Amino acid sequence: VAIKNYFKHYSMDVHVLILSLSESSKDLDSVRRVLRAFEDFQVPRRRQAVIAVGGGVLLDVVGVAASLYRRGVAYVRVPTTLLSIVDAGVGAKVGVNFEGHKNRLGSFYPAQHTFVDRTFLRTVDSRQLSSGLAEVLKIAIVRDLELFEILEQHGPKLLEQKFQASDEGLHVIRRAIRGMLAELAPNLWEQELQRPVDFGHTFGPTIEMAALPRILHGEAVALDMSLSCVLASQRGLLASFELDRILDLMRALRLPVVDSSLDPCILQNAVTDAAIHRGGSLRFPLPTRIGAVAFFDDINFTEISSAHSALLLRS
Ligand SMILES: NC(=O)c1ccc[n+]([C@@H]2O[C@H](COP(=O)([O-])OP(=O)(O)OC[C@H]3O[C@@H](n4cnc5c(N)ncnc54)[C@H](O)[C@@H]3O)[C@@H](O)[C@H]2O)c1
Ligand SMILES: [Zn+2]
Repeated sequence: VAIKNYFKHYSMDVHVLILSLSESSKDLDSVRRVLRAFEDFQVPRRRQAVIAVGGGVLLDVVGVAASLYRRGVAYVRVPTTLLSIVDAGVGAKVGVNFEGHKNRLGSFYPAQHTFVDRTFLRTVDSRQLSSGLAEVLKIAIVRDLELFEILEQHGPKLLEQKFQASDEGLHVIRRAIRGMLAELAPNLWEQELQRPVDFGHTFGPTIEMAALPRILHGEAVALDMSLSCVLASQRGLLASFELDRILDLMRALRLPVVDSSLDPCILQNAVTDAAIHRGGSLRFPLPTRIGAVAFFDDINFTEISSAHSALLLRS
């Protein structure tokens, strides 16, 4: 109602399509539904825009539809979950799942504008907020020790207050978006496949799809991060006190660090799939300390199994 009133106030003529989507329906059928609405509304190529208001799933589905319709119509994003504010609403990618594989179909289709308003977070439930914090934590671990420290100090309170009450809420959102932009902007079309922001997204997509709909996107990212950090520690890359600090913060942000879906065979399949996706080499980002990563191509089954066993012992 508030959104409709907004457009009414500015005497703007809008057609509204309400979509109820989830990760399980992030597929071509949903894209087709949106395309049918574009056809009904006769969306033109210029002068008007498709405005997607919603979480990451909705932005992805509508983004794919906008990229296809008339070979591309103007697309504006208004992310309404923490995860979509700090991540899905930042980059240039749109995608949907296909044949059980995460984001297998899609394209690079930058939005013309993205408008961020944290008041949307007032109604987001705390599990979804934690899921969004996983992506904030990802950016902190790969490039921003100070953001990590802010999360240690204020993360639980921000969760409780749904990012509304304090300046820190705004500060964390801004800093996370800035970090994402700094990583993505110089490599928008991903010519360089060695990407720090792939941290949490080597095992993550396979874990998420295998456990669908039980595990949220950010939770799958968190499970990948905990396993990857144990792996990094076993390799002597990450000091054990830093591993403890990361796992402690994950728990404080109410993120899972281990789950029954972490089966070493599935994890091995994830590695194979990630290597194909990244052009034939794994380019696995592993933290060398909080705030930095290095890349590796040589992860084998024994190493994954032993990291998995070590993680189980810690939980
Ligand atoms: N394209 C990209 O670059 C990119 C990047 C990161 C993540 N993603 C994708 O984003 C998806 C995850 O996004 P998500 O975490 O936003 O999940 P989501 O879109 O499923 O939203 C989570 C839930 O919150 C509800 N919701 C949305 N806004 C709300 C609000 N303001 N108040 C109350 N409820 C609200 C939704 O209806 C949904 O039930 C994944 O599919 C992931 O692959 C895409
Ligand atoms: Zn992600």
